[in-house]
Amino acid sequence: MPIPESFIRELIDRSDIEDVVGDYVRLDKRSGGNRFGLCPFHGEKTPSFSVNSSRQIYHCFGCGKGGGVISFIMEIENLNYPEAIEFLAKRAGMQVPQEARDPSAKRRERMLALNRSAALFYHEQLSTPAGQAAWDYIARRRLSRATVKNFGLGFAPNTWDSLRKAMHAKGFTDQEMFDAGLLRKGQKDGFYDVFRNRLMFPVVDVRGNVLGFSGRILGEGEPKYMNTPETPVFAKGRNLFALNLAKKTKRPYLILSEGNIDVASLHQAGFDCAVASLGTALTNEQAQLLARFTKQIILIYDNDAAGAKASDRAIEILKKLDLEVKVLRISGAKDPDEYIQQYGAAAFENLLTQAEDQLDYKLRTMQAKYDLSVPEQKVAFVKEAALMLAGLSSAVEREVYARRTAQLCDVRPDVVISDVERTRTALKKRSDKASQRSHSPANAAQPGERDLRYEDPASAVAEEGIITLLYRDPGLAGANRLPSPDEFTSPALAHIFSAMLEKLSLGEEIDANGISGSLTSSEISLFSRLIERPVSDSHRDQALNDYIRKLREEKVNKTQADPLAILAQKRAQQHK
Ligand code: GTP
Ligand code: MN
Repeated sequence: MPIPESFIRELIDRSDIEDVVGDYVRLDKRSGGNRFGLCPFHGEKTPSFSVNSSRQIYHCFGCGKGGGVISFIMEIENLNYPEAIEFLAKRAGMQVPQEARDPSAKRRERMLALNRSAALFYHEQLSTPAGQAAWDYIARRRLSRATVKNFGLGFAPNTWDSLRKAMHAKGFTDQEMFDAGLLRKGQKDGFYDVFRNRLMFPVVDVRGNVLGFSGRILGEGEPKYMNTPETPVFAKGRNLFALNLAKKTKRPYLILSEGNIDVASLHQAGFDCAVASLGTALTNEQAQLLARFTKQIILIYDNDAAGAKASDRAIEILKKLDLEVKVLRISGAKDPDEYIQQYGAAAFENLLTQAEDQLDYKLRTMQAKYDLSVPEQKVAFVKEAALMLAGLSSAVEREVYARRTAQLCDVRPDVVISDVERTRTALKKRSDKASQRSHSPANAAQPGERDLRYEDPASAVAEEGIITLLYRDPGLAGANRLPSPDEFTSPALAHIFSAMLEKLSLGEEIDANGISGSLTSSEISLFSRLIERPVSDSHRDQALNDYIRKLREEKVNKTQADPLAILAQKRAQQHK
């Protein structure tokens, strides 16, 4: 049974788009009907993401994404339609009618309950005699009881089915545990615990859900860590370890580090702003997540080649967002944990003040590749530095770092400054040309949604017009003159149009929320962009007729211009 329309209406009424979006995006003061903020879906430094409270929709002028409150949650939480409904219902304190609940939403909820039970089970094992092995290791790593409690650390016993039995007793099935990545299938159809004899780190999201686990071996051995595989609730690339704790920090920055132990050790030493990516290179989604909680990131990766590479990559990703990025180099220890153990928290605090901003860091690592006593190499270094600095949008920054470059290799500052500016002009010329190309008329009519493309832009203009008009004035639907969706050339527009017709035939209102259930997220974006377009109040009737005529004309044109048809015609004439 589908979720009743009346339920969805009430849910939308109780989920004000400004409130919901406000949980993810800092919206500025009202200007006109819209409020603006930095788009959570693409990296940007100036706000082009708008929320329109009276229409209850959002739209990003940068990436083109848009829709209602339900599609916003689908997009940002990576949920399907029924899951997004569940999510919003929970938020609004409503209960989706039992018989209408979606199996996948139910499954998610069960999986989260299972993970929570498992985390509790692992934690409780620390109080058993077998848990002593874990305590010994915890003591060796000099982690305190308070830290164990704060992170909800636990112990997976060295047996094949302790967790399995305990979860059975709580009513969870083998299949559920298997799906959550807690059990593995053995040879003879049996199931056994995945995590055995490991120190367990639950991975908790910012709402307090236990998404999965990282299990570290007690001491040496391979693999050092085992992580929950990708499950319906756990996606490594979309979450960060300890962000649930770090989001509460009073410090104005977040520390991004590599290891779970490093993070635990940092928190214990008072650096409660530390997080780690879950054993993978930093992703865009993780960067967006960070940007929701801070303006400044300090990168502290391991003091080795892999750490340097990871820092470079993280800088590239973070600087696309409006984040101030600093890099901390650790010397005299391999990672933050070792540093703190060796030199103490005060020394680390001092080290933090010496974090380099990312441009200094990049210049320095760039310089290290060249031998500046060799003239050719000096020239090559300045060239590479100029290319990097030319990309900075702030003229002040360009000059400051050009001077720094000059200092590094002992040439006159004005020489580097003019090199940077010349490179910038050349780059700009090139990119202007490229953008002229992409704004040619054939491309102009294309939708911004990357996965959509109009085969017939001329007809699509008419199809878009019909949708915009019909939305503004559903009364135009009368008189039996609307075309059929089959007549549309764009499948996406046809899809939108038929969803609108369906609403009309049911006598329901057409809006971005109401029709989002049957559309893909790109289609929702396209739709919400179309309905935001200005429409003149006069002659709407005539305009609609014009669009319909245009649509049908285009169709005729197209069949006439069909190259195969023309070839066939020619051939027929030749044979006469
Ligand atoms: P220590 O060596 O005890 O200080 O470990 P650590 O927690 O600091 O981790 P380390 O710096 O060695 O690794 C960083 C992160 O990479 C870990 O937190 C894990 O998420 C991940 N990782 C490390 N080793 C493995 C492994 O063997 N398998 C997997 N899947 N991930 C790993
Ligand atoms: Mn480490």
